[in-house]
Amino acid sequence: MLRTHTCNELSKAHIDSTVTLTGWVNVRRDHGGIIFIDLRDRFGLTQIKFDPTSNPEAHKKAEAIRSEWVLKVTGTVIARPESMINPKLATGEIEVAVSGLEILNTAITPPFDITGEQPVNEEVRMKYRYLDLRNPRMTKNIVARHTFITKVREYLNAKGFLDIETPALIKGTPEGAREFIVPSRQNEGKFYVLPQSPQQLKQMLMVAGMDRYYQIVKCFRDEDQRGDRQPEFTQIDMELSFIEQEDILNINEEMMTQVVAAVAPHKKMLFSPFKRLTYADAMNMYGSDKPDLRYDLAFVDLTKLVDGCGFSVFADAVKNSGVVKAMRVPGGASFSRKDIDELTALARNHHAKGLAYITHKEDGLSSPIMKFLGDDLTSRITQAVGLQQGDIVFFAADEFDTAVESLGQVRKDVAKRLKLADENVLAFAWVVDFPLFKANKGDEHGYGKVAAVHHPFTRPLNEDITLLETNPLAVRSNAYDMVLNGYEIGGGSMRIHEQDLQKKIFTILGVSDEEAQLRFGHMLSAFEYGAPPHGGLAYGLDRIMMILQDEPSIREVMAFPKTGDGRDLMLDAPGDIDPKQLKELKISIK
Ligand code: AMO
Ligand code: AMP
Repeated sequence: MLRTHTCNELSKAHIDSTVTLTGWVNVRRDHGGIIFIDLRDRFGLTQIKFDPTSNPEAHKKAEAIRSEWVLKVTGTVIARPESMINPKLATGEIEVAVSGLEILNTAITPPFDITGEQPVNEEVRMKYRYLDLRNPRMTKNIVARHTFITKVREYLNAKGFLDIETPALIKGTPEGAREFIVPSRQNEGKFYVLPQSPQQLKQMLMVAGMDRYYQIVKCFRDEDQRGDRQPEFTQIDMELSFIEQEDILNINEEMMTQVVAAVAPHKKMLFSPFKRLTYADAMNMYGSDKPDLRYDLAFVDLTKLVDGCGFSVFADAVKNSGVVKAMRVPGGASFSRKDIDELTALARNHHAKGLAYITHKEDGLSSPIMKFLGDDLTSRITQAVGLQQGDIVFFAADEFDTAVESLGQVRKDVAKRLKLADENVLAFAWVVDFPLFKANKGDEHGYGKVAAVHHPFTRPLNEDITLLETNPLAVRSNAYDMVLNGYEIGGGSMRIHEQDLQKKIFTILGVSDEEAQLRFGHMLSAFEYGAPPHGGLAYGLDRIMMILQDEPSIREVMAFPKTGDGRDLMLDAPGDIDPKQLKELKISIK
């Protein structure tokens, strides 16, 4: 070992001992002859001091030292003068008076300030990620991620889960995104597909009798990126046999509660046990299948109340089998004209035709629609929503999806404007009973009129199985998502383990027998050999860490993320490959 302590270890207890530290020069200050350096390593900072009177030789060498040089120093731990104590630093009560200095390496001037005080362009950070990661904020994220994974492993190991690796060169698996493909040299003209998730393989492990599986695993999805999406990301993936949905929810709730308490003890869990919502309730009340429940702002349904009323916007929506939803916003009477215009534009962007509202200020109610509603209906509406002085209530009148989705967007925006979401609160919830199918827009798992919402291996609710043929879009499933602060952080389902039912689902999805054999023959045949009842779940680890670390994007919690257009700026990938390699693969580029 080159050092006796890390840069975060020394305290008053070490005064007078001789120590050796190693690390990078964070900041160097010249104070009238005495040179102070904050020496940094992964663990923290320690102030080291070069005094020309007591050690002229080391001081002389220190004059040349620049930021990010790598040093090894030996010296004596001394107390800092009272006025120089830094309570924000773990080592803030001491400093090391250097007697011996070895320069382990020099460094050229970094392209940006690593201490993180100046804003830095993200492309530059990505290109020099190895420097960016030296920043304490980034180091903290990487350490927290490690701790999270460690705690998850501890929990799952103790519950009898086996950590089993599954291959990365596989055949397509339907999770709804485009796939990354890898050409096979030994099998001319054939391609592997990188897994969007180990879904089929973990089900095979259940057929194999492994009982409980988990894996912390890279998944690959060639989809357009956003702050919460990357082309390769990490899942905490699990599957269990001989269990029911309730068991999976309970195990995961317990695991998450324990792990989060260890990693983010400063955060308050709002719901314990986690709140549970059906998909239908989530959409009805919040207009989202991943509502942020740190604030309430639930919708009230006014469809019945306004049926046949004098305001044509409302009456027509009801007549056309639509709905009228209202959202009361406490404190929203303070919104300016500009706020309301912006919120209306937002609703319109999500296909609403407008955004009606009533405000209740000190001088009473005001609204552009009261004249159409009349006094009686206005008062019945304000009563139904519980409007109080200081509030605003927004209305959406449309077919169901448009009404709740547009109002759901307004809900999120309003929460931002009024700062309703506390970063230190975690609102965990389960959204259950997802529909099994959705109308097929031509892209996803299936070729027929309907597509799978989760994936085609998801189990329909027993009580809805009779609807499979007559009204597939009404069939609910044993699928559930874990949501946290407005993000879907995990999702899973009970699976189909009977070959007949699986075949029936493929038929409804419009997958021909031939196609089913071709794509999923291995699963259908595995199901002939005694598949146990099973189910599972996968978390998006990056999303969880983003939330726990208060970061705006999952890029901030990944060591080497990709840009929005899927590039690794440090490695300069994707890149060209040698024409010889292409030739070997019998691939030519048009
Ligand atoms: P699903 O597709 O819902 O389920 O994925 C599980 C979780 O993975 C995260 N996630 C992502 N994170 C970052 N970037 C992405 N591109 C991305 N895509 C998904 C989300 C999501 O909740 N095999 C099933 C799980 C199962 O049924 O057991 C699956 O992959 O947080
Ligand atoms: P209009 O009669 O179209 O001028 O609309 C009167 C008010 O109702 C305006 O504040 C509109 O923004 C609002 N509005 C119009 N259509 C809808 C709708 N479908 N849902 C909610 N509000 C609407």
